[in-house]
Amino acid sequence: MVESIELFNLKGRTAVITGGGGALGGAIGLGLSQAGAQVIVIDISLDNAKGVAENIKAHGGRAHAIEADFSTEYVVEETFAKIDEISPINILINAISAPQTRYPPDQYPIEEWDKTIASDLTSFFLASRAAAQRMIKAGNGGSIINFGSIAGVSALGRGSVAYGAAKGGIIQMTRDCSFAWAQHNIRVNTILPCQFVNEGWKQFMNDPERAKLVNRVKSGIPMGRMGEPGEMVGPVLFLASDAASMVTGIALPVDGGNLAMNPGGSIDW
Ligand SMILES: NC(=O)c1ccc[n+]([C@@H]2O[C@H](COP(=O)([O-])OP(=O)(O)OC[C@H]3O[C@@H](n4cnc5c(N)ncnc54)[C@H](O)[C@@H]3O)[C@@H](O)[C@H]2O)c1
Repeated sequence: MVESIELFNLKGRTAVITGGGGALGGAIGLGLSQAGAQVIVIDISLDNAKGVAENIKAHGGRAHAIEADFSTEYVVEETFAKIDEISPINILINAISAPQTRYPPDQYPIEEWDKTIASDLTSFFLASRAAAQRMIKAGNGGSIINFGSIAGVSALGRGSVAYGAAKGGIIQMTRDCSFAWAQHNIRVNTILPCQFVNEGWKQFMNDPERAKLVNRVKSGIPMGRMGEPGEMVGPVLFLASDAASMVTGIALPVDGGNLAMNPGGSIDW
């Protein structure tokens, strides 16, 4: 029998993180590397990707940085051809999120809608398709983890209709892909984060004019605070590793209790 802690060992595996230069990608990349994986960081911003890869290397891990815009099919195909030259892929983590343009649904410009769907949903599909083709061919199974959001199962408002629709789409895409690829031992799961501190939230937290919004967000999280990127490592390591060998097709909230709480609920009565 395998010792329980060994279930989380990723030695000999290669993980690709799209949008890997971001806040969550950075923490997850280092976490997976510390569990033994080689990490390939893909980002539309080469600086972001390099920053994460250099940090992994500085901690003694193996990492590569690749600049690519994953909202475009041929770029995804070209990038996976580059990945093929580095290593077979065992783990794919989709963590892209593009800056949002916000409008009420009745005024949302179609060009902005198309842009958000391309960057925040189509990119997830293109990467999943390219990774699964390779995992099926190699015959060793794999794990695909998609970053959805609490915004994919509930309405956040604030002009985020296209983002919410993309996140809802990710959850259903996850179910369909998990069903189709289970026969190849490829597991596909979604994580639903609440608000986690990233560059955007850091700016809002330091801006007195945004204090109302930040407090409103925290009041929706029973744990009373936003998540720290490092708190995403455990859930991702679980889903990426053999510890979750029978887990596929799920949407796992990592949300401090946000989705468990009714918006009208309170502790006192
Ligand atoms: N942080 C949160 O509060 C939060 C909440 C819910 C869901 N999420 C989801 O978690 C994931 C990671 O979030 P984060 O906070 O690390 O975001 P982030 O903004 O810190 O990082 C996202 C990264 O995606 C990259 N990117 C944008 N468009 C791209 C494209 N077309 N091709 C390749 N890379 C592209 C950006 O350059 C950036 O480095 C995202 O999918 C996000 O929607 C985050």
